[in-house]
Amino acid sequence: MNSNDKVGSGNLEKRESFKSSFGLLAAAIGSAVGLGNIWRFPYITGEYGGAAFLLVYLLSVAVIGIPVMLAEVIIGREAKKDAIGSFKELSPRTKWYSSGVLGVLAAFMILSFYSVIAGWTLEYLINSITNQFAGKDVVAIEAMFTDFISHPTRPIIWQVVFMGITALIVVVGVEEGIEKFSKILIPLLLVIVIILDIRAITLPGGKAGLSFLFKPDFSKLSKEAVLAALGHSFFSLSLGMGIMITYGSYIGKKENLGNAVLKITIADTIIALLAGIAIFPVVFAFGIAPNSGPGLVFITLPNVFPQIPGGYIFAILFFALIAVAALTSTISLLEVVVAYGIEGFNLSRKKSTIISFTLITLLGIFASLSNGPLSAKKFFDRNLFDFLDYLTANYFLTIAAFITSLFLGWKLDKKLVEKQLTNDGTISVGYLNVFRFIIKYVTPILIIIVFISGVFL
Ligand code: PHE
Repeated sequence: MNSNDKVGSGNLEKRESFKSSFGLLAAAIGSAVGLGNIWRFPYITGEYGGAAFLLVYLLSVAVIGIPVMLAEVIIGREAKKDAIGSFKELSPRTKWYSSGVLGVLAAFMILSFYSVIAGWTLEYLINSITNQFAGKDVVAIEAMFTDFISHPTRPIIWQVVFMGITALIVVVGVEEGIEKFSKILIPLLLVIVIILDIRAITLPGGKAGLSFLFKPDFSKLSKEAVLAALGHSFFSLSLGMGIMITYGSYIGKKENLGNAVLKITIADTIIALLAGIAIFPVVFAFGIAPNSGPGLVFITLPNVFPQIPGGYIFAILFFALIAVAALTSTISLLEVVVAYGIEGFNLSRKKSTIISFTLITLLGIFASLSNGPLSAKKFFDRNLFDFLDYLTANYFLTIAAFITSLFLGWKLDKKLVEKQLTNDGTISVGYLNVFRFIIKYVTPILIIIVFISGVFL
């Protein structure tokens, strides 16, 4: 039986949604582009010293991220199932599906802290509407942020609101609408970030920020930084969680997988770079510490808006758009967990969503409190929030991506891989052998080296 005949065999209700490449690309880009680009990329680039980190990040996107994403969509389109089901379908009675299990756990934990930041964007949206940034100096803007995140209830209320919206969308199943909508909003976000870029690089003293971002100083590069760069490439591209497997299972048989993967990766990388260009000049122009941590975007950009003509409107648009970009990512994260509840525990979609929502939100509340009232409780020197962030990207996603690349390189029938990449021989792909070589040897070996040296050495 031709695998494409299997469309619809999964029990996920939206199995047949993405008929056009438009829908698929919008969904995949919607998942990839999010807080990872605008919030996480700048903050960890700042934490790990700038340009040298960026270079390693770009390398890991190209050499590891792209092949792993290709592997995930191949697995998904071949098996036509969700993250765990796909491994079971392609290799019954083996343990390969453990990669999917790790992915579900990772999605659970990521969503718990991701929704906290997503909640912050709502607070900042309200702050922009009520014109809170005007007339404040750097110190006041920083204080506004720290007061807010350490407040015992305000961040939690926003987080629960954000999770509630996500859960509603996942229950009602209107993802496709939202994703098409995000196809308009993401270009709009791009325009606003470019306007911020222009203002940022023309700030007096801003040039130092560009050097920080683009002039590598390799003496600053620790082994942990390399692991963080690798982990972030998975985080930003939504890899290692079966999300691209699930989306791959919706891709039509005429779609050129290599092209789709390239487009998603390029879009994701450009938005991250532009966010970095908007933020680091401000960091240096205003004397903010580049390693300010997860608050970086919230303490830099509010200084810039009042300095741009129309800044009031741009601030509102900016925070509204990142909230939407975050929403398309939280939808994909919750979908992974909910789908597992449906397929693994035979729950109805509604039950699965309610249970997932409750458990994730509970963990998220503790993550949020760890920025304030519970900050003294440490897990390996980090508060719960930072610990979840660090653990998922650097361990869970990395290990799951490792298993996925081994599966594709060593286990999956070569002919299937060729069939998927060439669309049954109807298009020619010059990179077939290169891809096979990379996914079989280069990707897993690099992941192992980086992982072992980052964790143990
Ligand atoms: N890629 C998303 C972002 O950059 C986050 C995400 C990670 C979404 C993993 C889904 C899965 O914001």
